[in-house]
Amino acid sequence: MSQYKGLLFDLDGVIVDTAKYHFLAWKALADELKIPFNEQDNERLKGVSRMASFEIILELGHRTMTTEEKQRNCDRKNALYVSYIQKLTRNDILPGVESFLTRARKAGYKIALGSASKNSPLILERLGITDLFDAVVDGTKVSKAKPDPEVFLAGAAELGVNPAQCVVFEDAAAGVQAAHLAGMKAVGIGDPAVLRQSDVVLPGFGGMDPGELLARL
Ligand code: BG6
Ligand code: MG
Repeated sequence: MSQYKGLLFDLDGVIVDTAKYHFLAWKALADELKIPFNEQDNERLKGVSRMASFEIILELGHRTMTTEEKQRNCDRKNALYVSYIQKLTRNDILPGVESFLTRARKAGYKIALGSASKNSPLILERLGITDLFDAVVDGTKVSKAKPDPEVFLAGAAELGVNPAQCVVFEDAAAGVQAAHLAGMKAVGIGDPAVLRQSDVVLPGFGGMDPGELLARL
């Protein structure tokens, strides 16, 4: 086994392609509020909490709202998002993820989820992979959004692993920053242009062996 003992996975965009549903739900709300919002703007929302995401959208539209109005809009976005993710099944797990997690567990790595999403437990359950995680740290357990390292430090603590022995898997620039601020290595999953700060970037997990990958860090 390598010098690393704990693997921390972001959820949206790493384990499952829910990033597109977050975008669609925010887009519907932004359209209704007549705020221009596109996929490039959406990059800034990845890894960011629900309320902080909405605040970015309001900023894009040069708009302000009361706390109550903001909360009401966040609730509406979430209701729409939850309606989209009801249809998730095991088939929506991104290619190679399940076998990577299973191999990593067999090899003795401790595995945690580190996500800003309050919907994490629901999604893991719908995908049928809750049992693959030794710890789940979600948006209900942390108060500071990525790039703050809180979510990953809490994950390492739940696993009982030193942060320096943890590796984070992330699709968002804010998540890569959070990993580094936590003193952890970061594997970027997705677009190298967005993830240029990560220690290694992969297009996905397909066929990847955990030991081989960690040896590259
Ligand atoms: C993150 C997503 O995982 O969770 C963000 O990347 C999202 O886009 C955040 O805003 C919060 O999710 P939720 O499900 O609690 O609204
Ligand atoms: Mg993500």
